[in-house]
Amino acid sequence: MKTVLITGCSSGFGLETAKDFHGRGWRVIATMRTPREDLLPRSDRMRVLPLDVTDPRSISTLIDAAGPIDALVNNAGIGLLNALEGTSMDAARDVFETNTLGTIAMTRAVLPQFRERRSGVIVNVTSSVTLKPLHLLSVYTASKAAVNAFTESLALELEPFNVRVRLVLPGRAPETRFGENARSRMQGGFPEAYRGLVQKVFESWSRSTDPVTHPSDVAEAVWRAVNDPVSPVRLPAGADAVALAAA
Ligand SMILES: NC(=O)c1ccc[n+]([C@@H]2O[C@H](COP(=O)([O-])OP(=O)(O)OC[C@H]3O[C@@H](n4cnc5c(N)ncnc54)[C@H](OP(=O)(O)O)[C@@H]3O)[C@@H](O)[C@H]2O)c1
Repeated sequence: MKTVLITGCSSGFGLETAKDFHGRGWRVIATMRTPREDLLPRSDRMRVLPLDVTDPRSISTLIDAAGPIDALVNNAGIGLLNALEGTSMDAARDVFETNTLGTIAMTRAVLPQFRERRSGVIVNVTSSVTLKPLHLLSVYTASKAAVNAFTESLALELEPFNVRVRLVLPGRAPETRFGENARSRMQGGFPEAYRGLVQKVFESWSRSTDPVTHPSDVAEAVWRAVNDPVSPVRLPAGADAVALAAA
């Protein structure tokens, strides 16, 4: 039986992906900053363990506790919507610490066992905003575009060891807690000079009838990335992301 370790399972895509892999017979290590046993099925194939991807001690404790794994899904991430002038360097660093360096740190932590065993898959969840730029997302997009570039280079480096590295690029998913979680980093508000732009952006979202991404789309794409040895390095997830990738 195979084991997947997923980061950021307290809500959204991570929670859905953990349920999906468990439902398909895998052993799942669902990690959360604040572990909750009540979110996922109770089962001897489901372990909920603490992990903060920005904390090296938390990562090494987790890797010791987890034992051997077959797949790592770097899903944990935070959002930030603001003009650059309204974004503090502390907020920008937080976004890169979690989205970019957290992904790199978790990948480094599992690589020795994957390389030695000559098998393993790493899936990094980025975003369709890296395919088509949107307003007010410069820092967030940069943090995810860096992961795209990191992944594509690393995939070449790990090919000789039979370790696969893949990207899943979800589209906009209003059903998850992502927007709500991002709000805490936007307490300072939007700079006055950008108010008109911000209003236009929010109005266009509220009027939009465009397709969106559902957590099940992301779980399905992660499943494919892990299980299909000939899947492409980039897998868009969700109708909006699939359309963007095809354009
Ligand atoms: N929703 C969208 O529109 C969208 C679109 C494209 C890509 N994405 C990406 O998809 C991924 C999942 O997002 P989501 O929509 O499912 O959002 P979500 O519901 O906010 O879930 C994000 C998860 O990441 C966890 N997390 C945040 N910081 C962490 C840290 N330092 N260490 C460990 N876990 C941490 C959160 O845990 P806590 O409960 O502890 O905060 C939460 O479980 C993210 O990488 C996001 O950037 C989202």
